[in-house]
Parts: sequence; structure tokens; C-alpha cells
Amino acid sequence: MFFDTHAHLDDRQFEADLPDVVAAFRAANVTRVVNASCDMDSCARTVALTRAYPEIYGAVGVHPEAADRFCGERDIENLRKLAKEEKICAIGEIGLDYYYDDVSRDVQKNVFRAQLDLARELKFPVIVHDRDAHEDCLNILRDYTDLKVVFHCYSGSLEFAKNLIRLGFYLSFTGVLTFKNAKAAPTVAQWAPRDRVMIETDCPYLAPIPYRGKRNTPQHVPEVAKRLAQLWGMDIEEVARITTENGLRFFGI
Ligand code: NI
Repeated sequence: MFFDTHAHLDDRQFEADLPDVVAAFRAANVTRVVNASCDMDSCARTVALTRAYPEIYGAVGVHPEAADRFCGERDIENLRKLAKEEKICAIGEIGLDYYYDDVSRDVQKNVFRAQLDLARELKFPVIVHDRDAHEDCLNILRDYTDLKVVFHCYSGSLEFAKNLIRLGFYLSFTGVLTFKNAKAAPTVAQWAPRDRVMIETDCPYLAPIPYRGKRNTPQHVPEVAKRLAQLWGMDIEEVARITTENGLRFFGI
């Protein structure tokens, strides 16, 4: 069985055929999915997904690109309420994104910290989105090493990964691992302690080879496990077992 620890099944790209998408990932032996939210509307859709499908769990949170629409205490209170839902098991995805740079960095940092404080209060694990903001993410997270933290779609260097592992954090890898032009990801994945690695699709984005460029779905998470099996020199079944155990432990489900 496989655990896709980061999907966006509430994306509009799944509006027309979600039941078929779920049937297809079930057939591929994907038995757990965590749906990550991007903004408050996405949080509501995530809750609905967790109610509709037994294998779908959810994370609620506001992505840095939506941080300028975050309404302070009012949205924290909304997130607190949503977190009471039975299958909401994490805060995410939250973090910093300096790639697009259309939301001010100070706003992003404040919204990130406010949601980390909420995760601490709820004792929830955190899914971190870090794009071109490695140092600032790490500086903030140094104040939150008591939390369970995963860097999703890990894209940093080996040196940076070593810092994160030292702080007790987890790394999660996507289909990028299968790309021929993947930079540090394969090296980091090969090095990473086996008990700190999770796999994900980040669908509908980042479809692995041989589906690159197409719509991604949780059905393709075994391709990530297959690449990891090459890098770790073990069977895909063993990788599936290890990464699923890590995911269940991390999310407490
Ligand atoms: Ni994502």
C-alpha cells in the first residue's frame, strides 16, 4: 500500500471526474491520501473530501501565495474550528514562497508564524511549502522545533537537508525525483534517513516520468516509490511499507 502525503484533489482539474480518479488510485493500491489546502475556500473543500472518501485525510492552512488574503485572528479561529473535524490531521500547506514574490515577504512571514502558533496549540504536524526561501524558513522554524514538520516537495541542497534532519524534521519527495534534470533531490533522497522520508504527488502538478506534463493524480505516487527504491537499493514493496509507516506516524493516523 502507498501513502500520497500531499495532494490537491480539491483543484478544479478534478471537478469533472473525481470519483474516477479515486477509483483509479484505489486500484493502484494507494490507501491513504492527505489533501493539502491553499486558502480558506480550499480548506472547506478539503473537509468535504475527508467526509466523502474514507482514505482521504486533510490538512488546513493558508499557502504563502494567498497570505495577503489572510484575515488574522478571524481566519485563525476558522482554522481552529476546521481542525476539530475528525479527519483533519495537520496544518498545511504553509510557509514562504519567494519565487513569485507577489505577496510581501513580511506578510508571508507573519501568516506563517501565526499558523505555526496554531499548530503548536493544537499539537498538529505541519506541512511546509518552501520555495526559494530556505534560509528564512529555517530561521522561523528554529523557534518551532517542538513541532512535527515536513518540508514537502523537498527542493533544497544536501547541506540544507542535513540541517532539517538534525532539527527532527521530515522530507517529502514528489515526481521531481524521476525527472532527468532533477538537481539535488535524488542525492538528498539517497542520503536521507529512511525513517524521515515521505512520498507525495502534489497533484495535479509535477506528474512523474512517464506521465510528465499530464495531469497528475495520487495513482502515480508508486512512480515516486519506484525511483526511491532504485536510489535506496531495495524493493518497491519495502519502500512503500517504510514511507507509509512514516506518514502514518507523522500525521498520527
Ligand atoms: Ni502543494
